[in-house]
Amino acid sequence: MKIFIDSADIDEIKLAFDWGIADGVTTNPSLLKAAVNRQIKAGKNLDIREYLKSILEIAGKTPVSLEVTETSAEGMLEQGERIYDMFHQASNNVNIKIPVNPAFQNEDTTHFDGIKVIKKLTEQGIPVNCTLIFSPEQALLAAKAGATFISPFAGRVDDDLRKNAGEEFQKSDYYPAEGREKNGKLLEDNGIVSGIDLVCKCVDIIELYGYKSEIIAASLRNTRQTREAALSGAHIATLPFGVIKDMLKHHKTYEGMKAFTADIVEEYANLK
Ligand code: E4P
Repeated sequence: MKIFIDSADIDEIKLAFDWGIADGVTTNPSLLKAAVNRQIKAGKNLDIREYLKSILEIAGKTPVSLEVTETSAEGMLEQGERIYDMFHQASNNVNIKIPVNPAFQNEDTTHFDGIKVIKKLTEQGIPVNCTLIFSPEQALLAAKAGATFISPFAGRVDDDLRKNAGEEFQKSDYYPAEGREKNGKLLEDNGIVSGIDLVCKCVDIIELYGYKSEIIAASLRNTRQTREAALSGAHIATLPFGVIKDMLKHHKTYEGMKAFTADIVEEYANLK
């Protein structure tokens, strides 16, 4: 499984690539806002174009997702082409993140605008990461429209299930892949019992019909969920830097380190 870093923070991205564990980067408007605010707070002058160029350079040849902020078909298409043209010559690794459905509510008439734009960008050879996937059906349509990447949002599914059940929780709390019962009833959203269940079903559909799209397990919040994403067969997991760091930690590893360092034989350590 490939690992992308889910961040717009240049320092985090640099570390992840220096460590040799990153195969790409995903950003979104909220991550970019947080990163920009951190730069400004640190008193740094911010040229957003140069900032993004630096991220693309660090990522080398690996894919970097930049998301549109427009919400109409025309707007997303124009902005997607513009962002792609601006960066792809220098780095040739940018892909454009398009929401599967940019409508704000059921009554809106723009439900198909995302799909339309995915098709148009793909036809021009511009790779698309289709974002905000919350059902396998959305993933199926994104694959048919030609998306290079499809991002089911696992953590936000778990948030939604817990919130609807009236539970108190921290976003980083583990939620079981097999789902959870409340008052003898399995919590579910139209048959989806957890974020990882959503990822599994998206992977199954892509594999079953041989679509070329790659599934990015997104909105992952903890290490156990990441393990389950890896076992789901997702092609990629995009991970916040904190989760990447947590993946290395284990109390028995610390304990083992203490024991081994206490047992060092000086003659061995000083072998020349
Ligand atoms: C990545 O593509 C997504 O934008 C990101 O994983 C969302 O994560 P969040 O639900 O923790 O904000």
